[in-house]
Amino acid sequence: MESSAGSKENLIDQKITYMDLNKLIESVKNPHGKFNGNEIEYVLRALDSENPENKKFPWVQKFEEVFAEKVGSKYAIAVNSGTSGLHAALYAAGVGPGDEVIQPSVTVVMDAYVTIHMGATPVFVDIDPESWNIDAKKIEEKITPKTKAIIVVSLYGLPVDIDPILEIAKKHNIIVIDDSAETTMSLYKGEVAATKAHIGVFSFEKSKHMTSGSEGGMMITNDEKLATLSRKFAGIGYKGLTASAGRTSLAASIYQDPDYERFDTIGLNYRMNAITAAVGLAQFERIDFLVERRKKVGEMFLDAIKGCSWIKSQVVPDHSVHTYFTFGLLYLGLQEKGISWKEFYDRYKAKGGDGFYACWANPYLEPSLKGKKMGDQVFAKGLCPIAEDYQKKIMAFKSNYRDLDEAREKTRILKELIDEIGR
Ligand SMILES: Cc1ncc(COP(=O)(O)O)c(C=O)c1O
Repeated sequence: MESSAGSKENLIDQKITYMDLNKLIESVKNPHGKFNGNEIEYVLRALDSENPENKKFPWVQKFEEVFAEKVGSKYAIAVNSGTSGLHAALYAAGVGPGDEVIQPSVTVVMDAYVTIHMGATPVFVDIDPESWNIDAKKIEEKITPKTKAIIVVSLYGLPVDIDPILEIAKKHNIIVIDDSAETTMSLYKGEVAATKAHIGVFSFEKSKHMTSGSEGGMMITNDEKLATLSRKFAGIGYKGLTASAGRTSLAASIYQDPDYERFDTIGLNYRMNAITAAVGLAQFERIDFLVERRKKVGEMFLDAIKGCSWIKSQVVPDHSVHTYFTFGLLYLGLQEKGISWKEFYDRYKAKGGDGFYACWANPYLEPSLKGKKMGDQVFAKGLCPIAEDYQKKIMAFKSNYRDLDEAREKTRILKELIDEIGR
């Protein structure tokens, strides 16, 4: 039996296997490890109750400040997921019952879900066939007096062409939220994508460019009012919360008084915790490296498909830098070669390729929404024809290889398969 805290006796019914701490650290720090930067050190520092820095300048505040500075935004608000960030963003945008929120038709359901949780209606717009992002030209025809916000999604790491959307929004006095969950450090006209929108939302869920452990998110904005509302909503509505991170320095005699009132906003607890922030900060220190690695993998895929008439990738405009959260392909092999999506999938895997994902169902065709009537729309097939067509043809390849030799091998296999079929 070991005596101190952290002994075998502390392990819940032996469900967790005891491991030697030094060996564990060595394993985490392996050259291809996901958390082989300063993650362990920062987490231990955050856990150290003797550490004065935890009181003076807590980890969440540090992470927010470093993040805001690097992406070039005035305010950053750390949250516990991208979804909670989107929810807080809609609150800050003033979205409420009866309002409408315009959003793309190729994305995951979270954008629609937060809209519905605000009592509002998601209004889906078809995608641009080249970028696969929301089609700016089709947004204006969906604007009504009820439209309160537009959520754009920078799909798979390709920034949405936001300038024309911001112009439309300005004309109609609408807030634009850039769901940048898949786009950390992509560039749009030389600036970090999502910084131009009224509010940007990032996700640090485990598959993303960087992770704060397994879940996490960050909101950014240059607008003090939007930052204050977002922070209050995500912070249970404490009245002392402001746009910037940091503590309110009230004297204890004030907040310990029975007459002290704490809450002025109906919020939720979407706050990021210190351990998550410690991991996130360590990952963010290496964000340029992590993003560069994804871009290299993206280039390998582009090289593998070069000259193939029946495979297309997202068209990247000169003013944008794609960071390949995943490498998306539009597969036209059934029409041109008589080979189905599934058959191609099986043949790639049989040759040693990794399984790749299909695109999520269009949000309004997921079982949770399909068939429902909201506003003037019935959520059924035919609402956004290009998006529905692409959804069946997209292949989303893994881009988060930590070993580039492995990525080289997988993309070689793809190239070989395409050559076998004939470009
Ligand atoms: C486009 C998009 N929006 C929102 C989310 C939600 O982020 P999270 O999983 O951090 O809640 C994700 C990722 O899962 C996403 O890919």
